[in-house]
Amino acid sequence: MTALLGMSSVALLRLGGRQVIEGRLTLGEFVAFMGYLAMLAWPTIAIGWVINIFQRGAASMSRILEILHADPEIIDMPQASVPEPIHGAVEFRHLYFQYPNAANPVLHDINLSIPAGTTLAIVGCTGSGKSTLVNLIPRLFDPPAGTIFIDGRDIRQWPLVELSKIIGFVPQETFLFSDTIRENIALGSKDKLSDSELKRAAQVSQIPNDIEAFARGVETFVGERGITLSGGQKQRVAISKAVVISPKILIFDDALSSVDTYTEERIMEQLARMAQDRTTIFASHRISTARTADQIIVLDHGRIVERGTHDSLMNLRGMYAHLYSKQMLEEELAAS
Ligand SMILES: Nc1ncnc2c1ncn2[C@@H]1O[C@H](COP(=O)(O)OP(=O)(O)OP(=O)(O)O)[C@@H](O)[C@H]1O
Ligand SMILES: [Mg+2]
Repeated sequence: MTALLGMSSVALLRLGGRQVIEGRLTLGEFVAFMGYLAMLAWPTIAIGWVINIFQRGAASMSRILEILHADPEIIDMPQASVPEPIHGAVEFRHLYFQYPNAANPVLHDINLSIPAGTTLAIVGCTGSGKSTLVNLIPRLFDPPAGTIFIDGRDIRQWPLVELSKIIGFVPQETFLFSDTIRENIALGSKDKLSDSELKRAAQVSQIPNDIEAFARGVETFVGERGITLSGGQKQRVAISKAVVISPKILIFDDALSSVDTYTEERIMEQLARMAQDRTTIFASHRISTARTADQIIVLDHGRIVERGTHDSLMNLRGMYAHLYSKQMLEEELAAS
């Protein structure tokens, strides 16, 4: 652009200079012309930039508006209300679930009762339907009517905002916002988080040891404008975010997959302490997270194929016992 401006100035000097020499233009007129031209050059370039920025902004805005104007598919029923008091018992009755646009159901005839305050572990191979099952509880996808109940009320009859208040959910794919660790943990809580609440939530996921290494502690920025946390650190911030709202139901979808076994044990100890009066659901590949649960189900191709406690399932010598011995062997090999 600057080269073009320079070249056109040279051409104008030559053209205008000749006209002044030939007496067709006075020197004053020529100097005034060049002066006005110089004053016009940059505003003209700026108009080009502004038009360019405006076009890019308009394209982005139309994409943002598309999202803002999208009608959510999962909405509150007109008669939605909350049962009082809330205990947090979860029940599945003859649940078949098929994803929109999928050819076949992913979950088949799930019947399961999780009494309030108890722990359920869901184990199974990859693709067996663990995440699908737990994602249905906070209504990330809507289940068919009359299949999932919390405290005896169909979850489709619960207001969505109330569901999000009573369910602390750690998804399999951790997502943190580009903000401080404190804000990421505090995201679910309505009121401003006190330092002691934050500390308690952080303690559960054993994150303080890692935070100490960061110069700005919990005020450290994560994501695009800050430091990038490791997979395990992200998972633990997500765990703290889930527990900070003191929910009646806690759901962990493979939430400790990137955490080392030592830290996992310590987190499990903390969670066990927290879980006493809460319904807790763990979906995991790892049997270590399932061992102490009150109830364990084994999913295979969307069906519950085994259920019981750790001991009863070991005696059964089925899929659970097979998975357990395989994982013990893997751990022994890794240790040696
Ligand atoms: N959004 C979706 N749309 C269509 N099909 C899906 C969707 N999410 C999962 N599935 C399918 O549902 C089945 C169960 O997936 P799901 O994620 O529940 O398994 P998983 O047991 O959690 O596996 P992993 O142990 O790998 O996390 C898979 O066959 C998968 O392809
Ligand atoms: Mg999963």
